[in-house]
Amino acid sequence: MLSERSRQVDSSGIRRVFDLAATLKDPINFSIGQPHFDVPDCVKQAAIDAINGGRNRYTQTQGIPELREKALALDRARTGTPNDAVIITSGASGGIMLALMALLNPGDEVLIPDPYFVMYKHLTLLIGGVPKFVNTYPDFQLRAVEIEKLITPKSKVLFICTPANPTGAVTDGANLKDIADLAARHGLLVISDEIYHHFSYDAPPASIAGMYPGTLLLNGLSKSAAMTGWRLGWAIGPDELVKEMIKLQQYSFVCAPSMTQYGAMAALDFDVSGHIADYRRKRDRLCNALSAKYEIVKPGGAFYMFPKAPGCGGAEFAEKAVKNNLLVVPGNVFSQSDTHFRISYAASDATIERGIEVLLKIA
Ligand SMILES: Cc1ncc(COP(=O)(O)O)c(C=O)c1O
Repeated sequence: MLSERSRQVDSSGIRRVFDLAATLKDPINFSIGQPHFDVPDCVKQAAIDAINGGRNRYTQTQGIPELREKALALDRARTGTPNDAVIITSGASGGIMLALMALLNPGDEVLIPDPYFVMYKHLTLLIGGVPKFVNTYPDFQLRAVEIEKLITPKSKVLFICTPANPTGAVTDGANLKDIADLAARHGLLVISDEIYHHFSYDAPPASIAGMYPGTLLLNGLSKSAAMTGWRLGWAIGPDELVKEMIKLQQYSFVCAPSMTQYGAMAALDFDVSGHIADYRRKRDRLCNALSAKYEIVKPGGAFYMFPKAPGCGGAEFAEKAVKNNLLVVPGNVFSQSDTHFRISYAASDATIERGIEVLLKIA
């Protein structure tokens, strides 16, 4: 009954983690991909005001003009992107889906840095593209030379995610410049997922959006304002592509939720620096505590780290962790390799201390 298209997508890896989690009572949860803080009160109030003020109808397909302008102005100032076409999407995920639908013909190749955010691989497959995995082990830096090895006449799209899920790696500005030159030489469309840009602990992350006009910049509020359930993101990019995404949104998502868009206006004014300082401290605590027993590339951003599993594969290690009441995600969920595991430190300090204790014990 089910389509070939749908059966291309395999969710067994992450499901196994959830199944294991369901067997535990009060687990130490290092597997969560969202902030542990709540949506700021001013954002909640703006959405409540929008609902009470009757803003409950469809908005324009491309989003309310004031939010489009504000998101564009902020990302322009931050990245220097020369593009000014913008669409408000149902999360960054909505943007990825619409972009790939607008760009890919069957058999077109999509270059995906490995380890990767799972959606890049699965949506590429769903839409009939062919994922090509660019190796970034062992330091998780994406480099033009590794991308170039995989370029063929079918190469169409390159994903960049910085700061990255699942590694926390921040791609170096000089590497992005080389990648921008390579993309220009081969006419690649770059999808730059910058949803974690606020979560950068050592220096502001560089963006390829200001270096290469063929970039579709993705951003959103799921991480910086903890609005994961509100479904709000945006994409800024070449006019022709964004127009096509707006057309496809009209026949799929229709628009991002109305009250969420009004809430987003407040979220864009919210000062996240307190949360970022807190997460920097959590990162440092974990790195310092674990580095004697684990091989860890110190992450520059997001709220993840991706240590090497000591003495076994990532899946085996995650099972060992579960037996000790600790949830981590095996690296093979995010990678063609099974050598590492992901820790999310979007957790309370008490949870982090309990997790450290277990990790030191089972190494
Ligand atoms: C790298 C990356 N991009 C996009 C998303 C999805 O974000 P959204 O909730 O805006 O769809 C996530 C969520 O985990 C992510 O880690």
